[in-house]
Amino acid sequence: MTPSFAFFATPDAPSPPSLLSELPTVTDSVQLSGYHGYFYYDTQDQEPRLSFSAMLDGASASFHLDFTKGKVAYRRQHGGGRKQHIAKACGLKHNWQPGILDATAGLGRDAAGLRGLGCSLRLIERSPFVASLLEDAIRRAAQSQPELYADHFELYQGQASQLIKQLSTKTQADIIYLDPMFPPRNKSAAVKKEMRLVKLLVGEDQDADQLLPTALEYAKYRVVVKRPSYAPYLNEQKPSMSIESKGNRFDVYIIGSPHQL
Ligand SMILES: C[S@@+](CC[C@H](N)C(=O)[O-])C[C@H]1O[C@@H](n2cnc3c(N)ncnc32)[C@H](O)[C@@H]1O
Repeated sequence: MTPSFAFFATPDAPSPPSLLSELPTVTDSVQLSGYHGYFYYDTQDQEPRLSFSAMLDGASASFHLDFTKGKVAYRRQHGGGRKQHIAKACGLKHNWQPGILDATAGLGRDAAGLRGLGCSLRLIERSPFVASLLEDAIRRAAQSQPELYADHFELYQGQASQLIKQLSTKTQADIIYLDPMFPPRNKSAAVKKEMRLVKLLVGEDQDADQLLPTALEYAKYRVVVKRPSYAPYLNEQKPSMSIESKGNRFDVYIIGSPHQL
């Protein structure tokens, strides 16, 4: 069964973003119980934030994205810079800050982390629901941290297999980064809640294997695939090397080297 979502229009909140224009707009909260979840603008802070809410285990759970606070900001300040596993997997050096195409952007956390390390990012997200939350977070981040997010951090909503080809005609990505959904094995409470909401929004990534051949065809220097440690290689294709992280693994497919590497 495909879950059904609505946009809850509260007084004084902005109208729904165009990515959510297909959703029914509800103005009476009583009607929300007829949907699996709903989007709304949280206006508690000065700046309205697009948020998503759903019932999980009988309790209301909600989330929004924010690149300037929380995990992303913490990782930028205390995460270890280019010593991080993701930075090593991407081959970042002080004099090499590649253009990265994150073809499975999701919540945009890995992309924001890489932007904080000086890389230019293009993000692809196929779910219009997740993309609407990303778009809203990028808009807010571009206002409060323009040096990071006003440029070199662009979102494209659509299917990666098509957009990788389309975007490559303009600028070939140095690195294509893939992190498709993989069923979680252990369910720690915090991750579980947010990931369960995301899973409700996007479902399963059944076609993930097909992304690797396309990425390998279009990336200039490497393709980096993030997998849970227990997951098999994407498309059962052995990488050039793997970098183990806490619970995750970065499988790196090397195509070539810029002379600085
Ligand atoms: C696990 S999440 C990525 C998390 C992300 N790395 C982060 O740091 O937040 C996977 C995302 O990829 C998206 N996705 C999967 N396959 C895709 C495809 N073929 N094209 C575009 N987006 C895709 C899903 O909709 C989902 O939002």
